[in-house]
Amino acid sequence: MLPMAKGFKHQAFIFLGVIFLLISQSEQLQSSQTHTLLRLQLLLNYPDILSSWNSSVDFCNAEPTPQVTVVCYEESITQLHIIGNKGTPSLPRSFSMDSFATTLVKLPDLRVLTLVSLGLWGPLPGKIARLSSLEILNMTSNLLYGTIPHEFSSITSLQTLILDKNMFSGQLPDWLGSFPVLTVLSLRKNLFNGSLPDSFSMLENLRVLAVSHNHFQGELPDLTSLTNLQELDLEDNAFGPPFPRLGNKLVRLVLGNNRFRSGIPPELSSFYQLQWLDLSFNRFVGPFPLSLLSLPSITYLNIADNKLTGMLFENTSCNAAIESVDLSSNLLTGDLPSCLSDSKDAVFLYGQNCLTTGKENQHPLTFCQNEALAVGILPQHKTSKLSKVSLTFGITGGIIGGIVVLGLIFIFVRRLNANKTINKPTTRLITEKASIAYTSKLLSDARYISQTVKLGALGLPTYRTFSLEDLEDATNNFDTTAFMGEGSQGQMYRGRLRDGTFVAIRCLKIKKSHSTQSFMHHVELISKLRYRHLASALGHCFECYLDDSSVSRIFLIFEYVPNGTLRSWLTEGHAERSLTWPQRISTAIGIVKGIQFLHTGIVPGVYSNNLKITDVLMDQNLVAKISSYNLPLLAESAGKVGHRTALPKDPSNSSRVNYEDKVDVYDFGVILLEMIMGRPTNSRNEVQILKNQLQAVVATNDETRRNIADPAIQTCCSDQSLKTMMEICVRCLLMDPAERPSVEDVLWNLQFAAQVQDVWQGDSRSSSPDGSPSQPAHLRLTFH
Ligand SMILES: *[C@@H]1O[C@H](CO)[C@@H](O)[C@H](O)[C@H]1NC(C)=O
Ligand SMILES: *[C@@H]1O[C@H](CO)[C@@H](O)[C@H](O)[C@H]1NC(C)=O
Ligand SMILES: *[C@@H]1O[C@H](CO)[C@@H](O)[C@H](O)[C@H]1NC(C)=O
Ligand SMILES: *[C@@H]1O[C@H](CO)[C@@H](O)[C@H](O)[C@H]1NC(C)=O
Repeated sequence: MLPMAKGFKHQAFIFLGVIFLLISQSEQLQSSQTHTLLRLQLLLNYPDILSSWNSSVDFCNAEPTPQVTVVCYEESITQLHIIGNKGTPSLPRSFSMDSFATTLVKLPDLRVLTLVSLGLWGPLPGKIARLSSLEILNMTSNLLYGTIPHEFSSITSLQTLILDKNMFSGQLPDWLGSFPVLTVLSLRKNLFNGSLPDSFSMLENLRVLAVSHNHFQGELPDLTSLTNLQELDLEDNAFGPPFPRLGNKLVRLVLGNNRFRSGIPPELSSFYQLQWLDLSFNRFVGPFPLSLLSLPSITYLNIADNKLTGMLFENTSCNAAIESVDLSSNLLTGDLPSCLSDSKDAVFLYGQNCLTTGKENQHPLTFCQNEALAVGILPQHKTSKLSKVSLTFGITGGIIGGIVVLGLIFIFVRRLNANKTINKPTTRLITEKASIAYTSKLLSDARYISQTVKLGALGLPTYRTFSLEDLEDATNNFDTTAFMGEGSQGQMYRGRLRDGTFVAIRCLKIKKSHSTQSFMHHVELISKLRYRHLASALGHCFECYLDDSSVSRIFLIFEYVPNGTLRSWLTEGHAERSLTWPQRISTAIGIVKGIQFLHTGIVPGVYSNNLKITDVLMDQNLVAKISSYNLPLLAESAGKVGHRTALPKDPSNSSRVNYEDKVDVYDFGVILLEMIMGRPTNSRNEVQILKNQLQAVVATNDETRRNIADPAIQTCCSDQSLKTMMEICVRCLLMDPAERPSVEDVLWNLQFAAQVQDVWQGDSRSSSPDGSPSQPAHLRLTFH
């Protein structure tokens, strides 16, 4: 009796409710839409959950259930939710997804459509895009296949697209990144492949990106601009190897079971909202940042099955709310943190490390140490091959370079440059020739020899292989404070080696899998990029995958040039930091010598270096050094230049090489222009305007020329040297590359200008009481 009475009461309540709704809203569905619903019921093969649907049902006012909901607005259906039972079998063969869609689009005002677990099968018909007001589409757990139809790109109001647990395949289309308001994109458990489109970096409103359990691969697009992203779920794909670039608002980050092979970036320790972090089952290497344990929001942390190293301490601190930590199967050493091992609330797993606890199958300490060493170090036989190369280079380079350095440091630059050693520079012999020429001067300065020889070639240590550990040491684990910047050529860090030398470290990610062997010829070339007027290469380091020893990252270590850019020595406005005219000439000579070395000092030559005044750095002796050049390795990893480096060997390509040579001449002209005029230029157009000004005055008189030059040098330059410099500058900037002077021609003119200036200064100095007479006479001979 009692239940019946209750049931009756309930019905009465609904009845009253319905009347109330009818009165208050008086929503009456258009009869055509009722027919549409009944037709959908038929196409879905009359599932149990729709058994109550018949022609006399008032759909708009039927009580919603967890499985079926219809919402109307002004006699039209705006929301339709049909959720079948889990494991519903596929609809019969007679089912047509296309007819189903044709019927569905007769509900044109639909904003929210949920069709879950209904056994729908077939390709997703593009015509669903006719539902142009659609905001949320949830078709989880069906048997849909094929790709996401292109027509979907027209549903600009789409906010949520959930196609989890289907059989969609193929690559994600680029246009997916152009949905203006997309906030949730969930494609879990499908068969999608390829990489995520770069356009994803424009989905500014995205909060959830879930693509776990697919066959995606490769590097992720840069997601740092997705400032609203809270959940990123990439689990169980083949993403990697580098760590994705992410905004720091993430709450949930799941990278488990992929092919990530990098270190954990230090920025992760600033993800203050991060609650869930899963990095398990990858090949993450390098130190495990202990700070992750004490992130303010973290509750779940899983780094199991990686190659992370580092030491835990008993006093390591953790977030009080932490619930689960899995550090199993890494290369961790040290003691169990008591905040985890003593906690009754937290689940803590740490097996298969080298921790000092008798429990959970720990390896001996040496195991972790050896494994850790294997990370980031060249396999033994390859190391020895390289060291042979660098040894030979080191010896010859050391002797020659030691001599060069003596000359370079202690002799006035312009005198060196006046040396006519370069007539027809053929190959890499320039350094040798130059150093022979300096010998006589060198002997008179013999007291400096012992000191300089210690410094090795060019005052630099010999080229060598670095270990990843060296670099981590030098940069405090690539700390943000060591970060100098990032360009198309990878990230730059500043570091300090154990012996106190400062270095610049360039980190290049390698996309395709290559063995270290395939980089050896590049490395050999790079090891030769050591010259007084280059920020020289000091060494390299390969970071390899443990499984197949292919290279994941290459670090190139360069000389760190401490004294600012050339521009900062021209236009900063400090009188004391403005280069004098003779210094400008010798700087110009240095740059051209650097260019000449790149073109002809090594084989194959390095051309089209895109030289900029800001890439010319000054060292503590105000020696100019080119810090950015077209490294063959960089060219290749950027995928642009391909095998250009092999070209100069082929004589039929010599015209092209000449042309490339003139590209650098033009760029040098732009730098020279700024050095003469003291004014920065920002566009090719501005350069041409200034060049025309210069051209107009070159043929006039000394006074006019002087007036157009940088005021800082007007009073201390000889007329002839200024004229020569202006002339050569104008010629470098000619539009037709064929008309521009050759590098040798430029160098000759600059040296001429230096000499004229030297004589002029010598004359004016010898007339002054304390002037030390310079010796221009023998230098002039070199021009005969
Ligand atoms: C329609 O379904 C309701 C219950 O949902 C039932 O009471 C009614 O008799 C049905 N009408 C027809 C015509 O089948
Ligand atoms: C989509 O449907 C699934 C299955 O019913 C559900 O778990 C999920 O919450 C739905 N998502 C949205 C945003 O409605
Ligand atoms: C993706 O899968 C399709 C088949 O579904 C295949 O034809 C295609 O080659 C795959 N693409 C990639 C990049 O693996
Ligand atoms: C934690 O312990 C280590 C040695 O066990 C010690 O070097 C370190 O200073 C301690 N840190 C704190 C915060 O107490």
